[in-house]
Amino acid sequence: MPAKMPKPGDLEPIETASRDELSSLQLSRLRWSLKHAYDNVPHYRRAFDRAGVHPEDCKTLADLARFPFTVKTDLRDNYPFGMFAVPRENVVRIHASSGTTGKPTVVGYTKNDIDTWATVMARSIRAAGGRAGDIVHVAYGYGLFTGGLGAHYGAEKLGATVIPMSGGQTEKQVQLITDFKPDIIMVTPSYMLAIAEEMERQGVDPRASSLSIGIFGAEPWTPTMREAIEAKLDMDAIDIYGLSEVMGPGVAQECIETKDGLTVWEDHFYPEIVDSETGAVLPDGEKGELVFTSLTKEALPIIRYRTRDLTRLLLPTARTMRRIEKITGRSDDMLIIRGVNVFPTQIEELILKQAALAPHYQLEITRPRNLDELTVLVERAVGVGHADGEAAGAALAHLIKNLIGVTASVQIVASGGIERSLGKAKRVVDKRPKA
Ligand code: DLL
Repeated sequence: MPAKMPKPGDLEPIETASRDELSSLQLSRLRWSLKHAYDNVPHYRRAFDRAGVHPEDCKTLADLARFPFTVKTDLRDNYPFGMFAVPRENVVRIHASSGTTGKPTVVGYTKNDIDTWATVMARSIRAAGGRAGDIVHVAYGYGLFTGGLGAHYGAEKLGATVIPMSGGQTEKQVQLITDFKPDIIMVTPSYMLAIAEEMERQGVDPRASSLSIGIFGAEPWTPTMREAIEAKLDMDAIDIYGLSEVMGPGVAQECIETKDGLTVWEDHFYPEIVDSETGAVLPDGEKGELVFTSLTKEALPIIRYRTRDLTRLLLPTARTMRRIEKITGRSDDMLIIRGVNVFPTQIEELILKQAALAPHYQLEITRPRNLDELTVLVERAVGVGHADGEAAGAALAHLIKNLIGVTASVQIVASGGIERSLGKAKRVVDKRPKA
């Protein structure tokens, strides 16, 4: 029995509304959102006209499939404020996500949007077991990244006491956790591990800390990583998902009582799964690319946004809204090593199975003789000697070959040899010559 079961009275009525009630709300909101985008954003007007569709054509939820997709480059092409559907003066906040190349993707929020976001974030923290009166330590980065401020406003709205620590200053993170005794931490799973390690360095037992819940997201992490974090910190580790273009964190959230994937807050974000190649909508249960349409956003309505995240839609459990399966990769994270598709999370699963290895790793891709080569750099666990580390490395290479089907060379490095992330971990270093 989890420590913090939500009482039914804690939930918003829409979280347990009937499917009929939810669908009819979705349809009226969807029609509003399509019209709002078409009437106010030249990009959408052009795109809909080109596809020969008009907002009035949306008579059922399934009609959404007739509308064109939106992709990241559409936001880039309209940099900085060209996708906004309201006068700039009504935009009270800007966030941006830095891409690997070129200009950042800019997103904007009206006052109502900030309030909606705080509501879905408060709902998310509650679903993870948080309650008014809890102390919430926010170690997601504050600033243009949506993690810090998104978590902050949600925790305040829930009625929690918020510690706006942001990312970095790892020693100080440990000091504040020790002194302020937060119940909940919100942070990327990879940075949680770095904080736990710093606790150990300072002689603080991570299992004895006050933290009982971690709300982890912004990067893929595996079920095995969940087990490792829960064991290391004696806490419930709960998954949170979101992306800047759709809102920020709080688009979907795992519920503590089931820990079985993430409930999509479908009253604000309408999910579809499409075939990445053909764009065809796939039935619930089939794996493909996650696509979102905002139903209530004012400043930046987003229609059929291709997230590149790969997952499937699952039936409702803890709430009446559908879930997404834990996201284990993005289509752009997929490595193709000599024709075999590999996601970094598949390697993570195997690393975590080796007790002599630590969950700090990086994948290096090179192309020495016109063929891609994969090197897995991974640390020995603390206290493990050279020989035992090498043996675990050989076992890992064997598992990668047998279970994933690629040949990888495993390079074991000493504890602390892999750079720690302060936010999203950088798992892949691509050293192949640029085409
Ligand atoms: O990462 C928002 C966020 C902040 C989510 C804090 C959760 C917690 P972006 O920087 O725009 O926004 O990156 C969005 O991160 O498309 C996924 O590929 C990945 N991602 C986010 N959450 C998860 C998760 C924030 N729980 C991109 N599991 C998304 C796997 C995730 N990947």
